[in-house]
Amino acid sequence: MPKIIPVATFDCVVFGATGDLTLRKLLPALYYRFRDGQMPGSRVIGAARSHLSDDDFRARSLAALQKHVCPDDQEPETMRRFLAQLHYVQIDAVAPDADWSGFNAVLDDDRVRVFYLATSPDLYGPICQALSARGLVTAKSRVVLEKPIGHDLDSARAIIGEVAKVFTEAQTFRIDHFLGKETVQNLLALRFANTIFERLWHADVIDHVQITVSETVGLEGRGGYYDKSGALRDMVQNHLLQLLCLIAMEPPVSLDADRVRDEKLKVLRALKPMGPHEVAGLTVRGQYTQGAIDGKPVPGYLADLGSDEVSSTETFVALKAEVRTWRWANVPFYLRTGKRLPEKVSEIVIQFKALPFSIFPREAAEWHPNSLIIRLQPEEGMRLEMMTKDPGPGGLRLSPTGLDIRFEKTFGKRFPDAYERLLMDTVRGNATLFMRHDEVEAAWAWVEPILEAWAARPDQPRPYPAGSWGPTAAIALIERDGRTWHEKME
Ligand code: BG6
Repeated sequence: MPKIIPVATFDCVVFGATGDLTLRKLLPALYYRFRDGQMPGSRVIGAARSHLSDDDFRARSLAALQKHVCPDDQEPETMRRFLAQLHYVQIDAVAPDADWSGFNAVLDDDRVRVFYLATSPDLYGPICQALSARGLVTAKSRVVLEKPIGHDLDSARAIIGEVAKVFTEAQTFRIDHFLGKETVQNLLALRFANTIFERLWHADVIDHVQITVSETVGLEGRGGYYDKSGALRDMVQNHLLQLLCLIAMEPPVSLDADRVRDEKLKVLRALKPMGPHEVAGLTVRGQYTQGAIDGKPVPGYLADLGSDEVSSTETFVALKAEVRTWRWANVPFYLRTGKRLPEKVSEIVIQFKALPFSIFPREAAEWHPNSLIIRLQPEEGMRLEMMTKDPGPGGLRLSPTGLDIRFEKTFGKRFPDAYERLLMDTVRGNATLFMRHDEVEAAWAWVEPILEAWAARPDQPRPYPAGSWGPTAAIALIERDGRTWHEKME
């Protein structure tokens, strides 16, 4: 059992307390931290517009825990004690005449105070200003903002500026929950706690990098948000670019939050901007139509949206990016993500260069250049694909074999959800796994020309049947370069 590091007693106010994120992710994460003894005496104060009593909120929270916490981990007595630490304040946070006194009654001035804004990003500025005007922001307060911050560079800058009038950068925690995933944190360990890879992490040895984040789910009732967002804003601008940064960054001088973030920022700034005429050749956008997932029929995007109108929102993106540094010169990064794909996989493939010359007879093998496959989810692990000799007599035959680490097998324990780590880091004031404002801006600055070029073109996203790996153009995008998307890690 790992040692549980205590955190200060805190009050966590969650705006958007009746929403999907709170019920599906935040409350289960807090329950686990409570169960592990990290929150004795800490309180969670739900805040939302619905008129609910503390008991109503606890009943909703219990239903959410029963649905989203693994049945083996549902301990009735622990749940009862956890629920007793939940409170509720009814508030329309942006109404000028809202009564904020409910917070004064429950908040303790001496504690760390976390304001978690699980709301639409256009409310971040107004809520922060209201908190400040009502005197609720103490020196020990922090604010947590969910992604996406804005919908383009200007709106992101406006939100960042509004929040900064109330909270300093050190008090502001911009969540990209991918950074809290165990295997994503493991990328730092892989690269900087081992000597062997760093020596090979270079254009001399690496041919290209692939990052795939595929999902089987469709809209999950989030159509209102998603149709205004699309896969580029929802996934690429944040999650996929953050993964790219962790792969491409130079070694930071320490694990200090700003030293790590300085290096990620350099990568974002080194991404080659796409000119308007390059976007069509370097990106593919798609939208799912009806199809089947796991053998079960599923509707197309427009039916999921409940819309008769055509929508030009993309549910799939594939693109080819270039990091213009000495280390990565001429090493393309292929990124793809989409909804309603055949399986849920998040995976990074570091593809090494082919042999310069083979001493083996041509018929001895079907050559596979070495690759390092980092599986973020599910079946978290890493596999280094190497050519080895098949055992036995009868001629020299070679085939690819994997050096494999499956984390579950190796460590044999539950992997905490990303939100557990990130919530506790917020209380600790450790921002290493959060996005700094300039990273958010640099990511938008790179993504924006793509959005603009798409908006300027009359063509719609390419259709792909649910259950397929996206439009065929996504396959052509990589095959044009003589490469292929990696197939499942066995
Ligand atoms: C969220 C996106 O940030 O990440 C969702 O808004 C997506 O659209 C989700 O489904 C994927 O996260 P995870 O942790 O399930 O891989």
